[in-house]
Amino acid sequence: MQPVRVNLGPRSYDIALTTADSGGFGSFARERLPKSTLALVVCDANTHSHGQATEAALQDVGFRTGMVAVPAGEGSKTLTEASRLYDALYNLAGDRQTAVAAVGGGVVGDLAGFVAATYNRGLPLLMVPTTLLAMVDSSVGGKTGVNHPRGKNLIGAFHQPAGVWIDTATLTTLPDREFRSGLAEVVKYGVILDAPFFEELESNTAAILQRDSEALVRIVARSCQLKAAVVENDEREETGLRAILNYGHTFAHAFETVGGYGGWLHGEAVAAGMMCAARLAERHGLIGSELGDRQLRLLEAFTLPTWPKSDWPVEELISVMRRDKKASGGQLRFILPTRLGEVRLFEVPEALVREVLSAHDV
Ligand code: GLY
Repeated sequence: MQPVRVNLGPRSYDIALTTADSGGFGSFARERLPKSTLALVVCDANTHSHGQATEAALQDVGFRTGMVAVPAGEGSKTLTEASRLYDALYNLAGDRQTAVAAVGGGVVGDLAGFVAATYNRGLPLLMVPTTLLAMVDSSVGGKTGVNHPRGKNLIGAFHQPAGVWIDTATLTTLPDREFRSGLAEVVKYGVILDAPFFEELESNTAAILQRDSEALVRIVARSCQLKAAVVENDEREETGLRAILNYGHTFAHAFETVGGYGGWLHGEAVAAGMMCAARLAERHGLIGSELGDRQLRLLEAFTLPTWPKSDWPVEELISVMRRDKKASGGQLRFILPTRLGEVRLFEVPEALVREVLSAHDV
């Protein structure tokens, strides 16, 4: 399969799409980093074996390697864990050419990416995403960061990778809930940018849920193409275009915050957030009910949550949303659909948002 190219001038890179080819990563890395002799592989407890395969592939093409496994989960996106990785790079005597290879899901990618962005004022980064969510979203586009005790992703940097290596075979062992959570972001691309892709998802739910290899490559490739096109046109989220990727995310962030630790996975919150956004768009007079109904059926087919839990206090959800980075002058702003395949940013009266959240049904 042809790689997906992310065209960003001197920061351009390829997203390689493969199936069961962990050894191929060595030559991919060597081609992109001809001068590097050392690599730090970062993984977590769940991706240890993928980390070892990545190390072996790098060693085969002449890299000296070190590996650090961070504890699995959001709790590792901290400056403390970043500091452990800085120590590892120091102990390995890393230089400016030393590569950081992030092998895992969004947490590993964001953390290792942040370390690559900051150690020695920037090291080459190789992304090896092993979850669906990381393949279609977090490993592409250069957002890296760790959490501040008061807020998610508050400490971060833009740092584009030198390459992204996606092996969809890693998805066959992904826990079911995590796989379905990643599908929410895939559905998102259809709603925000590509109606035919949305229709394709509607027609292929069975093959996707069976993790048919062809279906997986297809949905990952299309999602990456769509994300690449957005990032190419608004790399640092300055024009408002990249913000469309946040469809459903203002609600989702509130659900994750109020739901707390052990609550929903990110994609689950995004699924319910997209339903709230679609229903909000209806109440705001932008669309009829068909788009939301189709989105609902597709999300239900992927057995994703489609509405916030009824015991989450509406006022608490709204108060989190007021702190969203898209909010302006106290006004809530949301990415909302104007038709299938198109979204825009809208300022919405708080009363309407309260109405949607108080409806307590889909
Ligand atoms: N995940 C949203 C973005 O990369 O901009």
